[in-house]
Amino acid sequence: MSQMKDCRGLNVTMSGPEALAAHEKLTNAYLGFRIETGECLKAALQADPEAPMHQAMAGYIFHLMALKPMVSRANAASEKATSLAEKRGNAREKLHAAALARWCLGDITGAADRLEALLLKWPQDVLAIKLAHYLHFYKGDVAEHRDSVARVMPAWNCSMPGYSAVLGMRAFGLEEAGHYEEAERIGRQAVELDPEDTWAIHAVAHVLEMQGRHKEGIAWIERNVDAWDGKIHNFAGHVWWHKALYHLELGQYDAVLALYDNRFYSDLSDDGLDIANASSMLTRLRIRGIDIGNRLEELAGVIIKSKLDEGLLPFNDLHYNLALASAGKLEAKSLSDRMVRDDHQTHWGSVYREIAGPISQGLVAYGTGDFKSASQALNRVRYAWSRIGGSHAQRDVFQQVLIDAAMKADDWNLANSLLAERAALKPNSLETRRQATKAATALAGKEQCASS
Ligand SMILES: [Fe+2]
Repeated sequence: MSQMKDCRGLNVTMSGPEALAAHEKLTNAYLGFRIETGECLKAALQADPEAPMHQAMAGYIFHLMALKPMVSRANAASEKATSLAEKRGNAREKLHAAALARWCLGDITGAADRLEALLLKWPQDVLAIKLAHYLHFYKGDVAEHRDSVARVMPAWNCSMPGYSAVLGMRAFGLEEAGHYEEAERIGRQAVELDPEDTWAIHAVAHVLEMQGRHKEGIAWIERNVDAWDGKIHNFAGHVWWHKALYHLELGQYDAVLALYDNRFYSDLSDDGLDIANASSMLTRLRIRGIDIGNRLEELAGVIIKSKLDEGLLPFNDLHYNLALASAGKLEAKSLSDRMVRDDHQTHWGSVYREIAGPISQGLVAYGTGDFKSASQALNRVRYAWSRIGGSHAQRDVFQQVLIDAAMKADDWNLANSLLAERAALKPNSLETRRQATKAATALAGKEQCASS
């Protein structure tokens, strides 16, 4: 076991060139959302199971899968990574092992802090950049999500492997913080450098979504599709979900359903992101009064079968809850109760109790037709729900449910206020204009009745 240099000049503890090559391949696969990531992980572990970074990567990837059966595997890998890093790892590898160990304890903040400490010294550690990017995103820390990548940029240049991936992260951090122009410029630069970089494609897709540039968005997703289609794991489904969002806003509902059936929920997947995409899109279609057939029933069946006791990410649990509540399933209430009563003294524990629990109560009320309670519950927490993580575009589904609930509760004052906010943020949204006209007419009628 010796200290070797990786392609970015970082010291890594590996048994030899074969192990190092497997490490580089795994890093590239992880960065690029490649379908072969699992195989690369197996190959790296086989090439050198004693390399601290291989065990750390195993633990990280098991956590990133956000599947309950993977938690014990992440814990086992973390123990090995810690022990190997202590015995023969370098200082950077020890910090990776420490970050993973905090993650295993549910201390997401502690994990992110250790990755950030690592990046102060080794800003070219692209794995740490990507992992911190993920954690800040799911913690809903918009400013840190943006600044984390800004801090490492001076250490990077276009001759370094992985530069376009770093640009893609920089673009997404900027986009979520509302710096759309700069995000688009950097995101497009990343895609020019690497047309297969779906994270950068996705960052620009978010800009186009937030700015209501729907036709451009469709063309943007289609532009480089031959470069990445079939090479990316289920994150590809999320990119297709973004295309469906543009079609939704343009009123092209057949195209939305075709993407749902063929691209982002074709196989009744039990993956958290796949279910979130599906739950969110079906809710948006139902609010618009579109016939979704038996898709919601099928989705609820998947959730009931395998997701009720997951409790790994509040963001995912809320999307399960949304689908169950909309489908009228009793399990929506038990899932909500579990979130409200979560007693873990962890970052996520407090997010479940303080934010996700109250949102879920609103969703359960929405599902039972108690629209007044639903709008009141959701309205109370709406300025805090970034703490469940995810993007503005994803969390927007809860805002849409809140507006729909206010309208169905005949609370036209609230509905008009919410729609005025939304129109200011999304001036190109046809659906917002349609709802705003309806709400303004209803409020005027109500006031006329009151005065006559
Ligand atoms: Fe997205």
